[in-house]
Amino acid sequence: MSFPLHRPRRLRATAALRRLTAETSLQASQLILPAFIREGISEPVSLQSMPGVVQHTTDTLKRASVEAAELGLGGIMLFGIPATRDATGTAGLDPDGVLNKAIRDVKAEVGDDLVVMGDVCLDEFTDHGHCGVLAADGSVDNDATLDIYARMAVAQAEAGANVLGPSGMMDGQVAVIRQALDAAGYQQTSVLAYAAKYSSAFYGPFREAVDSQLTGDRRTYQMDPANRREALLEVELDLGEGADMIMVKPAMSYLDIVADVAAMSPVPVAAYQISGEYAMIEAAAANGWIDRKAAVLESVLGIRRAGADLVLTYWAAEIARWIKA
Ligand code: PBG
Repeated sequence: MSFPLHRPRRLRATAALRRLTAETSLQASQLILPAFIREGISEPVSLQSMPGVVQHTTDTLKRASVEAAELGLGGIMLFGIPATRDATGTAGLDPDGVLNKAIRDVKAEVGDDLVVMGDVCLDEFTDHGHCGVLAADGSVDNDATLDIYARMAVAQAEAGANVLGPSGMMDGQVAVIRQALDAAGYQQTSVLAYAAKYSSAFYGPFREAVDSQLTGDRRTYQMDPANRREALLEVELDLGEGADMIMVKPAMSYLDIVADVAAMSPVPVAAYQISGEYAMIEAAAANGWIDRKAAVLESVLGIRRAGADLVLTYWAAEIARWIKA
């Protein structure tokens, strides 16, 4: 293989040739929109660190989900912000709690035209902001948390969620959720397991989005950013526990993990382009330092190229509109 026989530029000469030879594509069906619903507000609340993203009211969430369905998005992932929090996250179990009610409302609106997903985690519901309940010594109690996740999962399935996304990184969470769903008659409710979720500085804006009460960090349960091999263990465990799909999170600083996982996973792989990744691009674009649309598309295409079948991104609807246009 050598020059002048080979000239890779030949296939780059026109837009049509580039289209013909593009290895990766972006489609609306591959994109999942994360959305926040906040209890007790009558107008949507804008987020300072995530320009363009809001905490929804029931009405604006319904509208966003109808639009998501019309655009042909792959799904919507719902996060709830309750009016009151306690040590064990009771509001997450209440069938009329903000998240369960939102799942029901959205489902009533979109039916089977959109895959509706619920976040199964306690951090939005606890007054200490951790993803699980605390033991007497202040540590996050893995096994006591599992029992609550199981009940939370059943409540979300009952509300009509198609897919549950356990994001708390407790050991065994997929197994207990699968067992609880099956025991309650929800054999058809899927689990999208946050398998390799790293303890990341890039979650910062999300914590504003959910008014997080967290002090400290999540390093005793989320993965260490230094680790690559460990992601494969997490994926294997979740597959063994019955995960239908798996996720890597964050995405942009973890493309090696996305590629590793895509190479070994027999089930669909999702990657979550998280709040800080969104905020970085928005901030640079707002300063005129990068071309916003081009940077957004390139960032998500890169995540797909690394091997993600599905991408959770706050730009899902906007990208779908661009693709359509
Ligand atoms: C935890 C959860 C987090 C995100 C999704 N689910 C935050 C965390 O682990 O602190 C972050 C998403 C984002 O940053 O966009 N329930």
